[in-house]
Amino acid sequence: MSAGPAPTETLPEEQPIDAPVVDPTGGEAGAVGVDREEVLVLDFGGQYSQLIARRLRECGVFAELLPHDTDIERIRLRKPRALVLSGGPASVYEKGAPSLRTELLELEIPVLGICYGMQVMVQALGGRVEGAERGEFGRTELELREEGGRLMQGLPDTQQCWMSHRDCVYEAPPGFAALASSPGSPVAACEDTERGLYGIQFHPEVVHTPHGQAILERFLREVAGCQEQWSAASVIDEQIDRIRKQVGDGGVICGLSGGVDSATAAALVHEAIGDQLTCVLVDHGLLRKGEAEQVVETFREGLGIKLIHVDARKRFLDRLAGVDEPERKRMIIGEEFIRVFEEEARKLPDVGYLVQGTLYSDVIESGGGTGAATIKSHHNVGGLPDDLDFDLVEPLRMLFKDEVRAVASELGLSDRMVWRQPFPGPGLAIRIVGGEVNEERLEILREADAVLQEEVRAAGLYRDLWQSFCVLPVVRSVGVQGDGRTYAYPIVIRAVTSDDAMTADWARLPYDLLERASNRIINEVPGVNRVALDISSKPPATIEWE
Ligand code: XMP
Repeated sequence: MSAGPAPTETLPEEQPIDAPVVDPTGGEAGAVGVDREEVLVLDFGGQYSQLIARRLRECGVFAELLPHDTDIERIRLRKPRALVLSGGPASVYEKGAPSLRTELLELEIPVLGICYGMQVMVQALGGRVEGAERGEFGRTELELREEGGRLMQGLPDTQQCWMSHRDCVYEAPPGFAALASSPGSPVAACEDTERGLYGIQFHPEVVHTPHGQAILERFLREVAGCQEQWSAASVIDEQIDRIRKQVGDGGVICGLSGGVDSATAAALVHEAIGDQLTCVLVDHGLLRKGEAEQVVETFREGLGIKLIHVDARKRFLDRLAGVDEPERKRMIIGEEFIRVFEEEARKLPDVGYLVQGTLYSDVIESGGGTGAATIKSHHNVGGLPDDLDFDLVEPLRMLFKDEVRAVASELGLSDRMVWRQPFPGPGLAIRIVGGEVNEERLEILREADAVLQEEVRAAGLYRDLWQSFCVLPVVRSVGVQGDGRTYAYPIVIRAVTSDDAMTADWARLPYDLLERASNRIINEVPGVNRVALDISSKPPATIEWE
């Protein structure tokens, strides 16, 4: 993005890691004492910056996102094979707009500027960037010149690309060749092969640029000479080694939530240190139908991991009685969760480490920092008392969600676990809206949700949906069933597609699936006489109701 509607993403900050491994770079997620080919994406604040890093990794090269003003010495120490400058919301000639430090272009490694990243480079090197009357947003036709130059060689002369900019490049800097244009961009791509500098105005990282991945691949292989094939699974050996070094023969504890992140983190740590790991499943009674049993079966029976299953259902329900207000529900559940976890942890005197399923996107979204700042929800057990002073073990810290699934699969977790849709820490409690959480309502919601999951899976749609679930608004309405009047709850079906939960669209579920789910929920779940469908996107709605 450049000078378009302002995205609101936060920039990542430096990430000190608690490991006793000497890391000369200050400890970015991927750097830790590991010698591998990597590319650094310098983030100018664009809404697709994370996606750029993901796409580069999909090409088999490790990529990491750093703030655009990261200290040059730190960058040099990482010895990246190339730099990518991301897009960003600013206009290059606006006061206070992030500028490009030209030393970055003198590191003798190739640089690819994307959108704002291209404009800032062109401006710094004496080309001409100016505001345009209308800008270019969305699908745009791109025409190649110079047979695509080095960067886009072999690609079709005319192709579609995705644009999102107002300013544009009118003249490439001296020494550069202009490689493409579009109706609103006289110079939509340019390169100086001598100096290894490349720029593209469009976004190669989004699916609406069909040849985008090929361009990134060419940049990595032909220009930057990257040869290795990085994969998420290659992280396994590296992390096993790292975990062993970090914890030595110390005891490690891990809270399992039933979700793929904590499950994968636990499985990875178990692979590294076996019985030094103890997992704790706090059953707060707010899990989905059969979920606690599945976790016990997978971990204790399937993987042979020591697992303490704490039945804390009554404790949670007692504390939730009479509480309507969503934030209070969340707070109570968070507090109680920590209390139960703490009690269990105190029974294990030799434990000094806590495993967390923190992902790369949590690290970036949370703006970085150490310890509690990176804890993404109560379920990852933040806020433990000071005398329970754990060091964190975060083996997934460098991975995106889809990469975690690849690791989970490689570690032999079942498909059901690997592909589990995200589930909030406070569980079903935040899906009972406008009234207290009690056993009767939980039972209704659990049963309705189980029916929906069954139908979604049967229709083969489970993996295509980011989340699909039921919500129980605490209102009752009149219905008729048989000869009698009913006065019962509605169930709302919520199903969304999304890449990262930051934005989401309501899923266009087939009518016959909706019909079956609706009939079954009303017929099979006592206490429900109506089913509604939530057709709101995020924003302005959120995925969950509370
Ligand atoms: P919203 O509802 O904000 O949700 O669009 C975005 C993602 O976060 C999950 N979510 C939560 N996860 N504790 C969690 O661990 C929570 O309190 C919570 N609230 C929402 C939600 O399921 C979605 O994936």
